[in-house]
Amino acid sequence: MTEAIASFERTRMFYKFNSKFDFAELNMTEYTDAEKGGRDLFVGKAQCNLCHVLDPVVGPDGNTYPPVFTDSTYDNLGVPRNTSIPGNPSPDIGLAGNQTVIDSVYGTAGEAGKHKVMSLRNIAITPPYAHNSFFATLEEIVHFYNTRDVASEGWATAEVADNVNGSELGDLGLTAEEEADLVAFMKTFTDDYPEWGNDPNVPAGTPSPW
Ligand code: HEC
Repeated sequence: MTEAIASFERTRMFYKFNSKFDFAELNMTEYTDAEKGGRDLFVGKAQCNLCHVLDPVVGPDGNTYPPVFTDSTYDNLGVPRNTSIPGNPSPDIGLAGNQTVIDSVYGTAGEAGKHKVMSLRNIAITPPYAHNSFFATLEEIVHFYNTRDVASEGWATAEVADNVNGSELGDLGLTAEEEADLVAFMKTFTDDYPEWGNDPNVPAGTPSPW
């Protein structure tokens, strides 16, 4: 079964990489002002790029591969418990609670509450968000990154209070417009951009630039 799934994952059906992001990064089309603003924030003030890396990846074989928006590490963002899931076991200690992920860290207190940095490809069409679907929309999760540690926002406490990343998110100081620009940028990560037919630079049928 592993080999069958891996074979499927090696087909272009699985990694289309033909989003507006892909064409814009390779200068085949242009971002809108909002999308460009979001990109600047993503790698700047909002620091998303620290984990969701948007540079091309150099593989173990030395070849360069298209960006996949993850550094393949694990982090505890302090996401609250999702009480709307009936019978949701609590606390969900993530990486420390799953022996099949990394056997050597199973049961290690220092890894409790950590979850894998997810890819953001096709993120606009795959709600809800985070490991427990706590956030219904991209606007909500961006607002959480921006204001988790701002007391007046009233976010529920982290499901796992240990190991919460307090240095790279929580009080980013983004304006409402900057939050919206980040969402606009993430909407460029959706595949099949040529088929949308809205961009003369990228007509229907244009193959992935990667
Ligand atoms: C410290 C590392 C880190 C930083 C910085 C970071 N993320 Fe994340 N991101 C994660 C992890 C880990 C998850 C999964 C968390 C979970 O499920 O509890 C995640 C999940 C997400 C998801 C949900 C993915 C899904 O499929 O449900 C979105 C959207 C997202 N991040 C966007 C952003 C944006 C936008 C920024 C910048 C404002 C950002 N992230 C900054 C680590 C990070």
